[in-house]
Amino acid sequence: MKPSERLIVALDVQGPEEALGLVKTLVPAGVSRFKVGLELFTSCGSSVLEGIRRAGGEVFLDLKLHDIPNTVARAAAAATRLGVWMMNLHIQGGSSMMRQALISVREEAKKRRIQPPLLVGVTVLTSMAEKDLMDLGLRKTLKDQVLDLAKLAKSVGLDGIVASPREAKVIRWACGEGFLIVTPGIRPKESTEDDQQRTATPSEAIQAGADYIVVGRPIISNADPAGAAKAILTEISPCDPVK
Ligand code: C5P
Repeated sequence: MKPSERLIVALDVQGPEEALGLVKTLVPAGVSRFKVGLELFTSCGSSVLEGIRRAGGEVFLDLKLHDIPNTVARAAAAATRLGVWMMNLHIQGGSSMMRQALISVREEAKKRRIQPPLLVGVTVLTSMAEKDLMDLGLRKTLKDQVLDLAKLAKSVGLDGIVASPREAKVIRWACGEGFLIVTPGIRPKESTEDDQQRTATPSEAIQAGADYIVVGRPIISNADPAGAAKAILTEISPCDPVK
């Protein structure tokens, strides 16, 4: 995969002007994939997706769906109609929820004769640490919890998972090649961790087996977003996953 295909920039901003301004700055720098999350989608709805596409970008719609199977399946079909490249749901919603979402995405795409979006499952948020799992009453290690959720997603047939780069290696080992690993929690050397707990640098993430890295604040809050994106693309260009 080319470095530009691996980088997904999180457009965690409030409004369409700011988002599309960033897209127009970043596309010429070699970025082609953008993540639209809760803040942007709640503020401006689906119109921003069309703007991103028109500017030459593909969209990862990061709404982390988690509800009863019928509701999630219908929302997943609606996202498919929006023509997104990738979307996600919480694996903790269970097998039945994931299965119905997958069926619904594929049926909707077939009806519209379009490519179905990649459907990936969120394991454990990268902002959570071991203690947070204890607070939730989970008596597993964080790594085991992530791994069990990744295996569950794979057994249902999802395209891949979202996890921290620190768990990428063990997930690749357990779930094999071809199962997509998307890693947020990316922090280039010398940037702050913010609220992320389980971080790695862009090259560490790719070497650990990540297919895609999601980067927000280190690019969008940088005084020179294009320069920051280019530095990351350069950093990952010689990287090959360590087998
Ligand atoms: O700014 P930063 O690089 O930390 O942004 C990370 C992005 O990835 C945020 O949009 C966040 O919602 C998202 N994300 C995450 N952890 C997950 C799934 C998504 O941080 N497990």
